[in-house]
Amino acid sequence: MAAVTIKLLLLIAALALTCCTPTTEGLKRSITRMQFYMHDVVGGPNPTAVRVAGRLSNYTGTDPIAALFGSVYMMDNPLTATPDPKSALMGRAQGIYAMASQRDEFSLLMTLTYGFTGGAYNGSTFSVVGRNPVMSEEREMPVLGGTGMFRLARGFCIARTHSVDQMNGIIGYNVTLIHY
Ligand SMILES: *[C@@H]1O[C@H](CO)[C@@H](O)[C@H](O)[C@H]1NC(C)=O
Ligand SMILES: *[C@@H]1O[C@H](CO)[C@@H](O)[C@H](O)[C@H]1NC(C)=O
Ligand SMILES: *[C@@H]1O[C@H](CO)[C@@H](O)[C@H](O)[C@H]1NC(C)=O
Repeated sequence: MAAVTIKLLLLIAALALTCCTPTTEGLKRSITRMQFYMHDVVGGPNPTAVRVAGRLSNYTGTDPIAALFGSVYMMDNPLTATPDPKSALMGRAQGIYAMASQRDEFSLLMTLTYGFTGGAYNGSTFSVVGRNPVMSEEREMPVLGGTGMFRLARGFCIARTHSVDQMNGIIGYNVTLIHY
Protein backbone atom coordinates (compact mmCIF):
# COMPACT_ATOMS: atom_id res chain seq x y z
CA MET A 1 0.00 0.00 0.00
CA ALA A 2 2.79 2.41 1.00
CA ALA A 3 4.72 1.58 -2.20
CA VAL A 4 1.67 2.38 -4.34
CA THR A 5 1.25 5.72 -2.55
CA ILE A 6 4.90 6.62 -3.11
CA LYS A 7 4.63 5.70 -6.83
CA LEU A 8 1.50 7.83 -7.09
CA LEU A 9 3.23 10.75 -5.38
CA LEU A 10 6.24 10.43 -7.70
CA LEU A 11 3.92 10.37 -10.73
CA ILE A 12 2.12 13.49 -9.54
CA ALA A 13 5.48 15.22 -8.94
CA ALA A 14 6.66 14.27 -12.45
CA LEU A 15 3.43 15.56 -13.99
CA ALA A 16 3.68 18.80 -12.03
CA LEU A 17 7.24 19.32 -13.26
CA THR A 18 6.29 18.65 -16.88
CA CYS A 19 3.27 20.90 -16.83
CA CYS A 20 4.98 23.85 -15.19
CA THR A 21 8.50 23.88 -16.55
CA PRO A 22 8.85 27.22 -18.36
CA THR A 23 9.41 26.87 -22.06
CA THR A 24 11.45 29.19 -24.23
CA GLU A 25 10.10 27.55 -27.37
CA GLY A 26 9.09 30.18 -29.92
CA LEU A 27 10.63 32.99 -27.89
CA LYS A 28 13.70 34.02 -29.80
CA ARG A 29 15.40 37.14 -28.57
CA SER A 30 16.08 39.83 -31.16
CA ILE A 31 18.01 43.02 -31.03
CA THR A 32 16.95 46.11 -32.97
CA ARG A 33 19.06 49.24 -33.31
CA MET A 34 17.49 52.31 -34.84
CA GLN A 35 18.23 55.95 -35.40
CA PHE A 36 15.78 58.85 -35.87
CA TYR A 37 15.30 62.56 -35.23
CA MET A 38 12.59 64.09 -33.07
CA HIS A 39 11.22 67.57 -33.76
CA ASP A 40 10.17 69.52 -30.67
CA VAL A 41 8.36 72.75 -31.57
CA VAL A 42 7.49 74.80 -28.50
CA GLY A 43 7.02 78.23 -30.12
CA GLY A 44 5.09 79.59 -33.11
CA PRO A 45 1.52 79.01 -34.25
CA ASN A 46 1.77 75.19 -34.47
CA PRO A 47 3.60 73.92 -31.40
CA THR A 48 4.06 70.15 -31.01
CA ALA A 49 4.65 70.50 -27.26
CA VAL A 50 2.40 72.63 -25.06
CA ARG A 51 2.52 73.50 -21.39
CA VAL A 52 -0.61 72.06 -19.75
CA ALA A 53 0.12 72.67 -16.07
CA GLY A 54 2.61 74.22 -13.74
CA ARG A 55 3.14 74.68 -10.08
CA LEU A 56 1.07 77.29 -8.27
CA SER A 57 4.17 79.33 -7.77
CA ASN A 58 4.87 82.69 -6.30
CA TYR A 59 8.55 82.25 -7.05
CA THR A 60 9.97 85.71 -7.64
CA GLY A 61 13.66 84.88 -8.06
CA THR A 62 15.62 84.94 -11.31
CA ASP A 63 16.79 81.31 -11.49
CA PRO A 64 15.16 79.93 -14.66
CA ILE A 65 15.44 76.38 -13.36
CA ALA A 66 13.54 77.15 -10.14
CA ALA A 67 11.01 79.23 -12.09
CA LEU A 68 10.17 76.33 -14.44
CA PHE A 69 10.21 73.59 -11.81
CA GLY A 70 6.86 71.78 -11.85
CA SER A 71 5.86 72.75 -15.40
CA VAL A 72 4.14 69.92 -17.25
CA TYR A 73 4.05 69.61 -21.05
CA MET A 74 2.07 67.37 -23.37
CA MET A 75 3.85 66.58 -26.61
CA ASP A 76 3.17 64.97 -29.96
CA ASN A 77 6.48 65.27 -31.80
CA PRO A 78 7.18 63.96 -35.31
CA LEU A 79 10.02 61.45 -35.77
CA THR A 80 11.89 61.54 -39.07
CA ALA A 81 14.69 59.55 -40.65
CA THR A 82 17.04 62.56 -41.02
CA PRO A 83 17.33 65.95 -39.25
CA ASP A 84 15.37 67.56 -42.12
CA PRO A 85 11.77 68.01 -40.84
CA LYS A 86 10.54 67.26 -44.38
CA SER A 87 12.32 63.89 -44.56
CA ALA A 88 10.38 60.60 -44.34
CA LEU A 89 8.05 60.54 -41.31
CA MET A 90 8.71 57.41 -39.22
CA GLY A 91 6.22 58.06 -36.44
CA ARG A 92 5.48 60.27 -33.46
CA ALA A 93 6.64 60.53 -29.85
CA GLN A 94 3.60 61.20 -27.68
CA GLY A 95 3.32 61.76 -23.96
CA ILE A 96 4.08 63.95 -21.03
CA TYR A 97 7.29 65.51 -19.82
CA ALA A 98 7.75 67.66 -16.76
CA MET A 99 10.41 69.93 -15.30
CA ALA A 100 11.56 67.78 -12.43
CA SER A 101 14.63 69.68 -11.28
CA GLN A 102 14.57 72.59 -8.86
CA ARG A 103 18.23 73.59 -9.04
CA ASP A 104 21.64 73.06 -10.69
CA GLU A 105 20.46 71.82 -14.10
CA PHE A 106 17.34 71.45 -16.21
CA SER A 107 16.14 67.91 -15.88
CA LEU A 108 12.95 66.47 -17.30
CA LEU A 109 10.91 63.46 -16.27
CA MET A 110 10.03 61.80 -19.60
CA THR A 111 6.99 59.52 -19.90
CA LEU A 112 6.63 58.90 -23.63
CA THR A 113 5.46 56.38 -26.19
CA TYR A 114 7.35 56.29 -29.48
CA GLY A 115 4.92 54.97 -32.09
CA PHE A 116 5.85 54.10 -35.66
CA THR A 117 3.53 54.80 -38.58
CA GLY A 118 5.78 53.89 -41.50
CA GLY A 119 8.78 51.84 -42.49
CA ALA A 120 9.90 48.54 -40.99
CA TYR A 121 8.43 49.26 -37.51
CA ASN A 122 4.98 50.45 -38.71
CA GLY A 123 2.37 49.75 -36.02
CA SER A 124 4.87 49.05 -33.22
CA THR A 125 5.65 51.20 -30.19
CA PHE A 126 8.12 51.39 -27.34
CA SER A 127 7.81 53.28 -24.06
CA VAL A 128 10.36 55.41 -22.26
CA VAL A 129 10.31 56.53 -18.63
CA GLY A 130 13.35 58.31 -17.31
CA ARG A 131 15.37 61.34 -16.45
CA ASN A 132 16.50 63.67 -19.22
CA PRO A 133 19.08 66.31 -18.26
CA VAL A 134 18.38 68.24 -21.48
CA MET A 135 21.46 70.48 -21.41
CA SER A 136 23.85 67.51 -21.31
CA GLU A 137 25.43 66.62 -24.62
CA GLU A 138 24.38 62.99 -24.31
CA ARG A 139 21.37 61.68 -22.37
CA GLU A 140 20.48 58.06 -21.74
CA MET A 141 16.90 56.99 -21.05
CA PRO A 142 15.57 53.49 -20.36
CA VAL A 143 13.02 51.71 -22.56
CA LEU A 144 10.61 49.81 -20.31
CA GLY A 145 8.40 47.99 -22.78
CA GLY A 146 6.76 47.95 -26.16
CA THR A 147 4.05 46.61 -28.43
CA GLY A 148 3.91 44.84 -31.79
CA MET A 149 7.45 44.02 -32.94
CA PHE A 150 8.71 45.39 -29.63
CA ARG A 151 6.63 43.27 -27.21
CA LEU A 152 8.45 42.74 -23.91
CA ALA A 153 11.15 45.18 -25.03
CA ARG A 154 13.96 46.27 -22.80
CA GLY A 155 16.53 48.77 -23.93
CA PHE A 156 17.86 52.27 -23.89
CA CYS A 157 17.93 55.48 -25.92
CA ILE A 158 20.90 57.76 -26.39
CA ALA A 159 19.67 61.27 -27.23
CA ARG A 160 21.75 64.22 -28.42
CA THR A 161 20.54 67.68 -29.35
CA HIS A 162 21.24 68.09 -33.06
CA SER A 163 20.22 71.75 -33.30
CA VAL A 164 18.22 74.38 -31.44
CA ASP A 165 16.46 77.36 -33.02
CA GLN A 166 14.89 79.65 -30.39
CA MET A 167 13.08 77.13 -28.17
CA ASN A 168 12.56 74.58 -30.96
CA GLY A 169 14.87 71.60 -31.00
CA ILE A 170 15.86 68.69 -33.24
CA ILE A 171 17.00 65.74 -31.14
CA GLY A 172 18.93 62.78 -32.53
CA TYR A 173 18.10 59.37 -31.05
CA ASN A 174 19.95 56.07 -31.17
CA VAL A 175 17.84 53.31 -29.69
CA THR A 176 18.83 49.74 -28.79
CA LEU A 177 15.97 47.31 -28.07
CA ILE A 178 16.03 43.69 -26.99
CA HIS A 179 12.67 42.04 -27.66
CA TYR A 180 11.04 38.78 -28.72
C1 LIG B 1 4.26 82.11 -1.33
O1 LIG B 1 2.91 82.09 -0.90
C2 LIG B 1 2.73 81.47 0.36
C3 LIG B 1 1.23 81.38 0.62
O2 LIG B 1 0.59 82.55 0.22
C4 LIG B 1 3.48 82.23 1.43
O3 LIG B 1 3.32 81.60 2.69
C5 LIG B 1 4.95 82.27 1.07
O4 LIG B 1 5.66 83.05 2.00
C6 LIG B 1 5.13 82.84 -0.33
N1 LIG B 1 6.53 82.71 -0.72
C7 LIG B 1 7.22 83.67 -1.31
C8 LIG B 1 8.60 83.35 -1.69
O5 LIG B 1 6.73 84.76 -1.52
C1 LIG C 1 1.21 51.23 -41.75
O1 LIG C 1 0.29 50.26 -41.30
C2 LIG C 1 -1.06 50.66 -41.50
C3 LIG C 1 -1.94 49.64 -40.81
O2 LIG C 1 -1.56 48.33 -41.15
C4 LIG C 1 -1.32 50.78 -42.98
O3 LIG C 1 -2.65 51.19 -43.20
C5 LIG C 1 -0.39 51.83 -43.55
O4 LIG C 1 -0.53 51.91 -44.96
C6 LIG C 1 1.05 51.51 -43.22
N1 LIG C 1 1.89 52.63 -43.60
C7 LIG C 1 3.02 52.51 -44.28
C8 LIG C 1 3.70 53.78 -44.64
O5 LIG C 1 3.48 51.42 -44.58
C1 LIG D 1 24.08 57.26 -33.44
O1 LIG D 1 25.03 56.38 -33.95
C2 LIG D 1 25.69 56.83 -35.12
C3 LIG D 1 26.57 55.70 -35.63
O2 LIG D 1 27.34 55.17 -34.60
C4 LIG D 1 26.47 58.09 -34.77
O3 LIG D 1 27.09 58.59 -35.93
C5 LIG D 1 25.51 59.13 -34.24
O4 LIG D 1 26.21 60.28 -33.83
C6 LIG D 1 24.73 58.58 -33.06
N1 LIG D 1 23.69 59.52 -32.70
C7 LIG D 1 23.36 59.74 -31.41
C8 LIG D 1 22.20 60.65 -31.22
O5 LIG D 1 23.96 59.24 -30.48
